[in-house]
Amino acid sequence: MSNLDPLVKIENLKKNFGNFTALNGVSLEVFPGEVHALLGDNGAGKSTLIKILSGVYQPTSGKIFVEGSEVKFSSPRDASNVGIGTVYQDLALNALTSMTRNFFLGREQIIGPPPFGILKSKEMNKIAVEEMKKIGIFISDPEQAVGTMSGGQRQTLAIARAIYFGAKVLILDEPTSALGQKQQMEVLKTILKVRDLGNIAIILITHNEIHARLVADRFTFLSLGEVIGTGTPDDLKDSDIKRLMAGGAEIGDLAAELKR
Ligand SMILES: Nc1ncnc2c1ncn2[C@@H]1O[C@H](COP(=O)(O)OP(=O)(O)O)[C@@H](O)[C@H]1O
Ligand SMILES: [Mg+2]
Repeated sequence: MSNLDPLVKIENLKKNFGNFTALNGVSLEVFPGEVHALLGDNGAGKSTLIKILSGVYQPTSGKIFVEGSEVKFSSPRDASNVGIGTVYQDLALNALTSMTRNFFLGREQIIGPPPFGILKSKEMNKIAVEEMKKIGIFISDPEQAVGTMSGGQRQTLAIARAIYFGAKVLILDEPTSALGQKQQMEVLKTILKVRDLGNIAIILITHNEIHARLVADRFTFLSLGEVIGTGTPDDLKDSDIKRLMAGGAEIGDLAAELKR
């Protein structure tokens, strides 16, 4: 497989809930080392699309290909087995336990047979710190409770965990929406670091067009279950979607900040 082949390809995906059509023939491709932003207002169908991609819902019709092979998921486990890792907004972290315990959550490295085995704490701490560092966040105390970490660090933890456990396609559901501006920048930097790894395809769900312009290589704009625009951030300049220009002045400052 070369970088010219999409890691994920969605073809004419439709989803009906009863006689309501939530997705009406959506197609998109995401390549390794690419951030693909999925934009659209509430009700556009973003969550429905990622739930289908992560095995939560089955499509009414249409096809999904991962690394060239058609896939059909009957559960989230099926999706995760082919390398689709989804980081949901709630992050599925336990604030009261350590960063390392959250990193391994249920997949701890143990010496000896369970339930009497001994946790390989040192090794696990080292892995958790290294994996976080690869995507730009240095944590000096991996035993610190997740509740003491910043919002941006937590998001990075959930991302690092998904990658370490095999995500080739990383789906991020509104990763910046619950954060203040400084933390948002931290998460965008993390996303760029993941992109720099080169082998992962990132689908970034957001309703923040400014963030999409800052980090996305391509975008797909959904409205009422249909693709109403697709292209590169530069294409947005001439777009009819006037809202996208609202952040024009602000975007230069943010882009400069991201480079630091
Ligand atoms: N389980 C469901 N049953 C019925 N309708 C649903 C269901 N999930 C989503 N919808 C409808 O599908 C449309 C798209 O929803 P959603 O995918 O959540 O959009 P978004 O994430 O872009 O806000 C909405 O009109 C929503 O009410
Ligand atoms: Mg949604």
